[in-house]
Order: sequence, then structure tokens, then C-alpha cells
Amino acid sequence: MRLNSRVERPQIAEPLVALCYAFRMTARILDGIKIRDEIFAELKQEVAQLAAQGVRPGLAAVLVGENPASQLYVKSKVAACEQLGMASWLHTPRADVSTDYLLQLVDDLNRDDNVDGILVQLPLPARVDSKRILEAVSPTKDVDGFHPVNMGMLVSNRPGLVACTPAGCMEILRRNHIAIEGANAVVLGRSDIVGKPMALLLLHANATVTICHSKSRDLPEIIRRADILVAAIGRAGFVHPDWIKASASVIDVGTNKVTDRAQAEQLLLNFPQRLEKFLAKGSVLIGDVHPDAVNTAAALTPVPGGVGPMTITMLMNNTVKAAKLRRLSGKSQPAAAAR
Ligand code: GUN
Repeated sequence: MRLNSRVERPQIAEPLVALCYAFRMTARILDGIKIRDEIFAELKQEVAQLAAQGVRPGLAAVLVGENPASQLYVKSKVAACEQLGMASWLHTPRADVSTDYLLQLVDDLNRDDNVDGILVQLPLPARVDSKRILEAVSPTKDVDGFHPVNMGMLVSNRPGLVACTPAGCMEILRRNHIAIEGANAVVLGRSDIVGKPMALLLLHANATVTICHSKSRDLPEIIRRADILVAAIGRAGFVHPDWIKASASVIDVGTNKVTDRAQAEQLLLNFPQRLEKFLAKGSVLIGDVHPDAVNTAAALTPVPGGVGPMTITMLMNNTVKAAKLRRLSGKSQPAAAAR
């Protein structure tokens, strides 16, 4: 048992936790930026080692149309590649592109030996058959982990490429020494991209996992049982602070842009500086967990600065992993595919 971890305390001394709660001790902040920096430093070394072997991992991004949020995400992904010394290519077809054109583009990227990872930024325009496009990506280059083959590998706990956001949540838990084995883990949200893979990763790490969602009965009661709560329901401040037990570690996947003044005032009542910023800017990013949970949980990822930075981090990690698996298989590999 690790004695330095606040989240394990209830197993050691429940009265101590009650005492902390009585004094409204604030949650330990699970800093995603710090972990991103750690992993980037590790990846930089791996990329340099690969360069010495004549391999430069490369990511091809496909950004369809001109969705500003998607443009921002893809720009950050390309910048991250540059920061790590990886290659990147950006393809920007117009919004009226056909499914056939995109299938051809993906096929070209599948055949390009310099490309280790293919990222098709979502959402695609409604007229494009997104499922067909995602299924056309070679599973060996599917750095998003969205391909049914990689999903199947995850279900059966075999090595493959895992969706970046849930993989990032696991890194946050592990690098903060939060005990997963035997813990009651509750995943709020059931999306293919976050909720389902998250539940599987926690299950494979020997947690007792409950998946719940907006239609679940008695959500507060389910969430109150969580030692680990992963909130991925996409609604600002949905999880009430009183639903969280004092010993819980909370991973907040939500990044909801709030623009309504009354809603911002309700959510940020106890955070006057953040409210001031909202009033100046006209918007604020709020997680799926009410900000007041900082006074009820034992540990909590901030929004922004928690899970967000981990998604790009794990995309870079998957690209390096894909490069190693595809290009070095048969050759001796340094501790590659573990993460
Ligand atoms: N759109 C929002 N998040 C993601 C992501 O993780 N991957 C892709 N491809 N598109 C996204």
C-alpha cells in the first residue's frame, strides 16, 4: 500500500478522511500538463533513438472543412509532432468532399511507408460516411484507436492501439499512484471514443466497473459508490459535488464551453476570479463535474489542464508506438509498446 497517496487514505483511516472533509480540505489536483511534459520528455528520447535507427515517426492528419474547433485541435497535433521531432502531413479537403475521395486519400496514406499514424479529425461533414472512412484506416496506423479491430483487441485485452483520451486518463491515474485494483470505478458516459474504452481499461486493471449514463436510474447513488469516477457525459457541471465521496479520485473528461451568464454564475459562484474572466471573455470551459467538487473529492483533474493535454500526448505516444511496431518488428525493440 502506498502511504503517500491521499486517495488511498480511507482504506487506512476513515476518521482522518472525515476530519479532512470537516475542514473542507481541497482536492489534490491531478495536473495533466505536468504529466504531458513528463511523457513528452520520454517520447523525445524515444524519437531520437528511432532517428538513430533511421526511423522518423510521422503522423498524417486529415482535416475536412473549416470547423474552427477542429482546426485548433489539428494545429495543436501538428505542433506537438514538430516539438517531438516527428514528421507530420496535413491534408485539408473542402467540406463538400465525397466519401470516395476520402477513401482514396486514406488508401494512399495506408500505402505510404513514411506515414505511421493516420488521424481523421472528427466530426466529418454529415454527407460523408464517417464509419466507412474510419474503417478504411489500416489498424496498424489507427492512432486514434477507433478501428473495430483495435476496439476488439481492447475488448480481449490484447496489445493494440487504444483511444487516446481513455489511455490518457489511465496515465493520470497511474502516474498519481491512484490504486485501481479492487477499486469501485464508475464511468459516467458510454461513447465509443471515451466511455466504453475507459470502462474496459479500468476492468483490465482489475477495477470493479460500473458504466452509467444519462438514462441510468439513481445516478447520485451509483456515483456515491465510486472510488474512481470518470465523468464523460458532455454536460457542464452535471456531477453535483455532493454525489462524490470524500475519498474519491475524479477524472473529468468534459470540456464544455459555457456562454450563458446565468449558468456561469451558478457554476462559478465560489470562483470569483474565474467568473470575472468569463465576464471579460464571454465564455468559460467547464468540466462535466461541478467546479465545487474541489471541496468534496480527494483528488480531481482540473478543467482546463487535466485530461485535455493528455489526449494529444497519447496521440503522440500511439504514433511512436505504431512506428515501432510496424517498422521495427523483427528487430530488437527497446521498451516500446508498454505504454
Ligand atoms: N474530434 C474530437 N476529438 C477527437 C479525437 O480524439 N480524434 C479525432 N480523430 N477527432 C476528434
